Amino acid sequence: MVKLDILQKVYECRDLDELRGIYDSWAETYDSTISGTMSYRGHEYIVDAVRPHLGDDAKILDAGAGSGMVGLAASLAGFTHVDAMDFSAGMLEVARDRGVYREIRPGVLGEALDYPDNTYDAVLSSGVFTPGHAPPSSFDEIIRIVKPGGLVCFTLRHDQTPPGFIEKFDELAKDGLWQQVRVSEPFQSMPGGEPEIRHRTWLFRVTPGRPSA
Ligand SMILES: C[S@@+](CC[C@H](N)C(=O)[O-])C[C@H]1O[C@@H](n2cnc3c(N)ncnc32)[C@H](O)[C@@H]1O
Repeated sequence: MVKLDILQKVYECRDLDELRGIYDSWAETYDSTISGTMSYRGHEYIVDAVRPHLGDDAKILDAGAGSGMVGLAASLAGFTHVDAMDFSAGMLEVARDRGVYREIRPGVLGEALDYPDNTYDAVLSSGVFTPGHAPPSSFDEIIRIVKPGGLVCFTLRHDQTPPGFIEKFDELAKDGLWQQVRVSEPFQSMPGGEPEIRHRTWLFRVTPGRPSA
């Protein structure tokens, strides 16, 4: 069983610039460690969850795209329009080389996103809502850029749910901005090295005719 010091470092990180720096320097070897050695599969679960709800030409944003594993899974599943956004330029370079994204743009979840209202049929995000990473407030902007009736699908760390997420989900539902479609059972997200780490896949639909932001 392989334990990765770098994983501990990113989960405990409390500083955005430091986290960005870690991902920049990890970018070249990220795939071989996370997807290879650790057998991470969160990206596949996300794509499986939305596949029955979307046509091939749905306009999708992979938020916190990293090296592009969601984009790859989406392309293998037949989706033809996936864009990528991440705050690490190093990770986005690797994602670009993968050749599966239409447009690649830097952006920070938790801050204003550089996309017009109602741009996407779905925003997908794998491995980004986890300790030390993007905050619950990210969903305000995500919902703004998803079309009414569109989808938001992401993994959330389950064995150590970061604070404020479940409350945020409830608040957004109470405010009429989205409804939960389904949440998966917890699954081992990195069985190859961190079997105790579990995530769940959450799927929400942005309310058609939602109140404007
Ligand atoms: C664990 S990796 C997951 C990458 C990819 N989604 C996957 O499934 O392999 C987390 C990614 O989120 C990005 N990230 C973390 N916090 C972010 C934030 N606040 N805004 C944008 N990207 C962020 C990191 O740069 C990194 O690429």
